[in-house]
Amino acid sequence: MSVTPSDVKATLSFSDNSPSIDFPIYKGTIGPDVVDIRALYNKTGKFTYDPGFMSTASCNSSITYIDGDKGELLYRGYPIEQLAVKCDFLETCYLLLNGELPNATQRTDFTSLVTNHTMVHEQMGSFFQGFRRDAHPMAVLVGTVGALSAFYHDSLDITDSHHRDVSAIRLIAKLPTLVAMTHKYTLGQPFVYPRNDLSYTANFMRMMFAVPAEEYKVNDVMVRALDRIFILHADHEQNASTSTVRLSGSSGANPFACIAAGIACLWGPAHGGANEAALNMLYGIQKQGGVEKIGEFIKDVKEKDSGVKLMGFGHRVYKNYDPRAKLMRETCHEVLNELCLHDDPLFKLAMAQEKISLEDDYFVKRKLYPNVDFYSGIVQRALGIPVSLFTGIFSLARTVGWIAQWNEMISDPEQKIGRPRQLFIGAQRRDVPSIDQRK
Ligand code: SDX
Repeated sequence: MSVTPSDVKATLSFSDNSPSIDFPIYKGTIGPDVVDIRALYNKTGKFTYDPGFMSTASCNSSITYIDGDKGELLYRGYPIEQLAVKCDFLETCYLLLNGELPNATQRTDFTSLVTNHTMVHEQMGSFFQGFRRDAHPMAVLVGTVGALSAFYHDSLDITDSHHRDVSAIRLIAKLPTLVAMTHKYTLGQPFVYPRNDLSYTANFMRMMFAVPAEEYKVNDVMVRALDRIFILHADHEQNASTSTVRLSGSSGANPFACIAAGIACLWGPAHGGANEAALNMLYGIQKQGGVEKIGEFIKDVKEKDSGVKLMGFGHRVYKNYDPRAKLMRETCHEVLNELCLHDDPLFKLAMAQEKISLEDDYFVKRKLYPNVDFYSGIVQRALGIPVSLFTGIFSLARTVGWIAQWNEMISDPEQKIGRPRQLFIGAQRRDVPSIDQRK
């Protein structure tokens, strides 16, 4: 796919009659056109100003497309609703990395490649000992994923596509092992080694929940539910953590360091940390008295200076229902039914919260709909995953998206080190006063 110059130009004119300037417009395959303003500073001595990048495309990409108004999400053109039902996570990883779904042979080969990279160097276990048992799992993951770059000197040359491929497989394969080790370390239980006779997600669940004292029984419904959670979280255009990975990668940093940076950014409650925050929000309302307390909570949310947000709602791009939230709610039903928890008070509270919020003008006016994080916490909790590990699960799933985006950036002939400019509003040049002249 390529960028197509539009016949239409963008003309920038100034009210002080300084000369107007034309800028080219490019069309993609779907979605908004872009105005190429790269020459703006050289031609005008002016920068654009777009805090939060509300109207700024940082790159061209062929990986994921979101239509926020329609509530549509495509991975390499395939709708998430179809991928979540017809594929498993490793097929989705292959698609995101290579641009096409694997055929039977490619699927077998890719699965075996990932399976045979799930172990981590035995010395990785020593990194955990330095953490307190109650360390937040994301602190442990940022540290241990970054530490991987100390073990793989044979695949750090980012200009070598084979090195990039090897690093991609290592990261996709080892994140489950590191997330499970993080969980076991918190519990004070022994690490569980991966098993090559299990599927990717069954292997992860066994590393998370098996204990030496008894055989671990795989529950296929729960494995399928978690595998779907991985698919739903795999990639999402140029979100904050993906942009962090791209920006880190643009300096030539190695892939392990870039993914560690992405994990750090994802941790924030406005981003990947929202699933943990959304569940804690529901716990809080439940503790206050449950459904009848939702009205009071919503009142606080509308109170601007309360700083209270309805976690799991709203999105920079989706101004309609996040298609992942719909699929996550369905998965919720399946898992809770499987576990005979259909009367789970928290799930009922979440559905009541969703109904009330979708009817409330404050949310309707601001197009605030449930996003992927609203229901994911309830499903993960039902699967036995601790709240503090929810964003670690998100990191595990998003690693393939980060890697695919990082790879695309490295291979883009247009890519340069990312270096935004600023509107400076600080002090003019002044001389340093001697200490006795300072106020
Ligand atoms: C993820 O970018 C991605 O693709 C991210 C992600 C991915 O897959 O990578 O989808 C994953 O991060 C999902 C989002 C998870 N975050 C949350 O659920 C946290 C709660 N949501 C908000 O923090 C917020 O909605 C954001 C950060 C997600 C989006 O914020 P924006 O686009 O910057 O919008 P905004 O803050 O300017 O909000 C517009 C208005 C404001 O009110 P007014 O100033 O117009 O009066 O809506 C209000 C906001 O106060 N608002 C909310 C709200 N979200 C926005 N009010 C209450 N509760 C909320 N959740």
